[in-house]
This record gives sequence, structure tokens and C-alpha cells, in this order.
Amino acid sequence: MIQDVYQSKEIANQYHADRLSSGFRRYKHWMECYYLKKYIDTLNEPILDVGCGTGRITEYLLELGFKPTATDDSAAMLDVFNKRLGKQKKIKTICTDITRLPFPDKKFATVITIRVIWHLPHQKIKKALHELSRVSSDSLVFDITNRQYSESLLGKILLGIFSLRGMPRNSIYSQESEVSDILKKHKFVLHSKSNLESIPHLWLNLWPTAQIPLSLFKTARLADKLFRFILPPQRQLLFYTRVK
Ligand SMILES: C[S@@+](CC[C@H](N)C(=O)[O-])C[C@H]1O[C@@H](n2cnc3c(N)ncnc32)[C@H](O)[C@@H]1O
Repeated sequence: MIQDVYQSKEIANQYHADRLSSGFRRYKHWMECYYLKKYIDTLNEPILDVGCGTGRITEYLLELGFKPTATDDSAAMLDVFNKRLGKQKKIKTICTDITRLPFPDKKFATVITIRVIWHLPHQKIKKALHELSRVSSDSLVFDITNRQYSESLLGKILLGIFSLRGMPRNSIYSQESEVSDILKKHKFVLHSKSNLESIPHLWLNLWPTAQIPLSLFKTARLADKLFRFILPPQRQLLFYTRVK
């Protein structure tokens, strides 16, 4: 199972540097941060970052002025997290499965989980959504990989090319409407849906990673928007709020 790879110390040690190791990866990170900041008004404290990994998003939440609690089911990932920022920032980390969060109902105002849901096996996604909505009093923020992309002609071609190049097809694709139906039962309604990457912008990898100008990320985002007519977004960032 794909989530098991994160139990490995070797993977955990490489993970953080890898996430920002190319222009395209930086673009994906930039987009996530862009939308988290855009919807900052919906992010009330206390905040829980589930599947925090080595702390990429937790770190950004700290930058935005929040003091999140962080959980992950991989001791190896949390070990790197704690070495990177846990101790100096006094962030509380807990090693636990997303479907068994050791918190009372509505303990957190906001629950965030990025790049986690689509790594879970299908039958676990529903359980995870129930658990996330149980511990959140106000809002839920997470990304899904979009089934419309994987079922579109161009999406199928791109996924085929990437699997031919030896890259694993490690995503469970979902549909926003299915997710919304599950969350409706917990009184969460969709507040906003932001489209993340569509096209694999490998041209961004031509730049030295630390020197990519912001204008290139903006160009990539514009290209993603223009291509939407023939290629749905591969990932979407969903913001849900609880109806009072
Ligand atoms: C792709 S990483 C994302 C890490 C971080 N959220 C980020 O965006 O950089 C996926 C993380 O989800 C965690 N994970 C996978 N399955 C999980 C589960 N069942 N319960 C809790 N965490 C899980 C993994 O250990 C890993 O740290």
C-alpha cells in the first residue's frame, strides 16, 4: 500500500528535500500555500494538521501565525518533523492513524490534511472523512485527486506516459460531489473549491530551483486555467465549513 512507504526511515529522510527539489514541485507547493493564504479567514484556531509528514504545511501555517497540532501515522516522518521544527517551535506531534484521532469531538476549529486523502485505500477515505469531521468544529481543508482528470482522454494519456516512465500511479481519484455527500451528513458544506495543477509543467524544472521567479508560477497557473477546456484539474483543494 502506498501509505506504507512513509513508514520507511529512508523515504522520510529524503521526503522534505524532495518536495521542493524541482520547479514543478515548487509550483505545486506554491499553489497550495497560495490558496491556504487566500482562505485564511476560514482558518480559525486551534488547528490540526493531519498527515503532517515532515511538516511542510505545518511550517507554512506557522509562517501564517498559527500554532498547529500535528499528527501522522509514521514515526519516521514525525522523527524528521521533530528534528526540523518540532522542538524549537514546541509543536505538539502525535503518532496516530487518520481514522483514529485521539481527540474529543470538535476539539479543533480547523482540520487540514494535504496530500494524504488520495494516498489512502478507497474504503479508508470514507472513514477518514468521518473522523476528520468529528474532530472539527468549524472547517475542513484537504486536497483530492480528481477523477474527472483520470477519466479524461488527455488525462489518461498523461497518466499512461508517466507510468511508462516508471512512475507509480499512486493516487486514488475521487469526485468532489461524492466527498460532499459524505460530509453533508456531518453538516459540512463546500465553501470553496480551488483547482491545483492540471498540466505536468516539466518546463519549470529547467530553472535552478532556488531562483524561479514568481512570474513563472503565475504563467503556469494561467496555462492550467486555459487548458481546463480539454484537461480537468488533476488535484483540487476543498474547503468545507460546518453549518451551525
Ligand atoms: C505525501 S505525504 C504528505 C505530508 C504533508 N502533509 C505534506 O503535504 O508535505 C503523506 C503523509 O500522510 C501520512 N499518512 C498516510 N497514511 C496515513 C494514515 N492512515 N494516517 C495518518 N497519516 C497517514 C504519511 O505518513 C505521510 O507523512
